[in-house]
Amino acid sequence: MKEKIEALLAEIESLSCKTQQDIENARVRLLGKKGSITALFDEFRTVPPEMKREFGQKLNQLKNAAAEKIAALRESLEESSAASGSSFDLTMPGEPFSLGSRHPVSIVREEIIGIFRKFGYDVAEGPEIEDDWHVFEALNFPPEHPARDMQDTFFISSGHKDPILLRTHTSSVQVRAMETLPLPIRIICPGRVFRNEAISARAHCIFHQVEGLYIDEHVTFADLKQAILLFVREMFGADAQIRMRPSYFPFTEPSAEVDVSCNICHGKGCNICKGTGWLEILGCGMVDPNVLEASGIDSRKYSGFAFGMGIERIAMLKWQVKDLRNYFENDLRFLKEFETSI
Ligand code: DAH
Repeated sequence: MKEKIEALLAEIESLSCKTQQDIENARVRLLGKKGSITALFDEFRTVPPEMKREFGQKLNQLKNAAAEKIAALRESLEESSAASGSSFDLTMPGEPFSLGSRHPVSIVREEIIGIFRKFGYDVAEGPEIEDDWHVFEALNFPPEHPARDMQDTFFISSGHKDPILLRTHTSSVQVRAMETLPLPIRIICPGRVFRNEAISARAHCIFHQVEGLYIDEHVTFADLKQAILLFVREMFGADAQIRMRPSYFPFTEPSAEVDVSCNICHGKGCNICKGTGWLEILGCGMVDPNVLEASGIDSRKYSGFAFGMGIERIAMLKWQVKDLRNYFENDLRFLKEFETSI
């Protein structure tokens, strides 16, 4: 029996297999019901009692050695076939996975950028954490100006002379552009803005805007109106109309708010446009000379227009989304509705 055990140990040690089937055959040959190790366990019954202890240990060692060797052979074969890629069965059906979809805010942002790029506008970006100068002061909001209350601000530090804050509008990027870019300037500035507002269906503390700025010699209000009309017709359809209402912004003079004809009822009046036939989409105006001068631009030589719109607002009009909170909750049931728009 001793010799048999030693011969089997040597066999196990030198065992090598090329396929899973070889390994399985070796397992059956050694450890199967009729395997040689199993046979030795049967033979063990005939071993005299005084030798049972010694042979019992040897047999168990043999059985463990065989099991370990088989496991090691399996593992190394799996590793080498995974490395050579041969375990990958190309005929297996693929596992379906969801592609996801673009967020409606991204879809509309890209659409707005695409339209203005066609008109020759570049995209400019600026920081979300800003200083008072770029968000307010350079835009003609003096320190105690009541218009600052229109934009409830999140302050990061308000202790010193020039507070640090989260930008409340992307108009800050036009200041950065006017300070750094060569003239003429024709840019749009998409970005995220922050206001200290209670969250509701109609207001959120985070939203997105696109700012536009055009500065050159002899830019007039007629140029502004034409730019907005072209944009609106690209965005809402060739038959869309606009109307401009006088308004007030500290950084533009004159200022206007722009309405687009309601694309649901086409002017007849419905609950989306609250019976008026018009939907408000943006604010705009001629850049105030004070704003040009604050950024070092000669307001006698140059003039310009600016406009600003909310991306969520445009998306709401495009898809009749009634609750602003939908844009921020990342509910897949909502996001999946935009899958086909990719
Ligand atoms: N900054 C304004 C806001 O957040 C939007 C705006 C209005 C931007 C008029 C402009 C503009 O550039 O001319 O409400």
